[in-house]
Amino acid sequence: MSYPTERPRRLRRSEAVRSLVRETRVATNGLLYPMFICPGANVRQEIGSMPGISQQSVDRFLEEAREVEQLGVPGILLFGLPETKDASGSEAWSPEGPVPRAVRAVRDAGLKLIVAADVCLCEYTDHGHCGVLKGETVLNDGTLELLAKAALAYAAAGADIVAPSDMMDGRVGAIRRILDDNGLEDTIVLSYAAKYCSGLYGPFREAADSAPKFGDRRSYQMDPANAREALREVALDIEEGADIVMVKPAMPYLDVIRRVRDELTVPVAAYNVSGEYSMVKAAAANGWIEEKRVVLEILTGIQRAGADIVCTYHAKDVARWLKAC
Ligand code: PBG
Ligand code: ZN
Repeated sequence: MSYPTERPRRLRRSEAVRSLVRETRVATNGLLYPMFICPGANVRQEIGSMPGISQQSVDRFLEEAREVEQLGVPGILLFGLPETKDASGSEAWSPEGPVPRAVRAVRDAGLKLIVAADVCLCEYTDHGHCGVLKGETVLNDGTLELLAKAALAYAAAGADIVAPSDMMDGRVGAIRRILDDNGLEDTIVLSYAAKYCSGLYGPFREAADSAPKFGDRRSYQMDPANAREALREVALDIEEGADIVMVKPAMPYLDVIRRVRDELTVPVAAYNVSGEYSMVKAAAANGWIEEKRVVLEILTGIQRAGADIVCTYHAKDVARWLKAC
């Protein structure tokens, strides 16, 4: 059967019909909103390359967290900027560090938000790498215990999810063990399992003050050319106990999201990263694209590729737009 009997345009005749047959429905309830916590009080410092996104002290952060909850965004993903940095990133596991304080503030305020805490050392080390160094080499095994201690500090403070983003081998297992040994077997591990060495993290490194002081992250983050390797990374993390796996960035890696989705059964997250956000904001500010339309198209694409969860700096805007329609 084909034309003239078959007419795909029949199903595009009105918004009501289009919406009836729509395959992918962007919803607020799959979104996580990333937030940056800094020291001090009454601080809200907008990030130059990320309009609308700020570094905030815990008090101001809490105000925005309330707003996020009211908008119906289900969860937040926290990053911390420490008071001081050192070679091992020790403020990453301090119970008085920015992230544990923010988590406790959310819990004490009785907010229902799901709180996820990013686990990495690069915001906390004076050299800006995601692990400890020997000379200029980023050590794998020597880093695991430090990441585990950080995850434990966040989980103990009340985080629902810990999300290791460092790309060391074996860190999911190390984190799962320390959580279980401390009675935190219900804390969820969301692993940045397939995290590529991407040029799209630039604005984030301004936001989190986490740019490496020398070299790059190619010896631990994945080569953008590799998709089969992503499946291997994901499988290993699931074996080590990851509950949710993430692909990052999102837009250049939709094929990877799809393959992970097809070959595995755990929930799949995608991180629509800072550079992806900044490109949209800059083009929209110039009047070159329509922000709302393009953001919803991008999120539709990420979900259509198979992501159940999307971490995105657009989350609040999307929630507002979807509420209005
Ligand atoms: C830290 C981390 C990064 C991001 C999340 N966690 C940056 C990096 O690896 O340099 C990127 C997030 C974004 O760009 O929005 N390991
Ligand atoms: Zn890092």
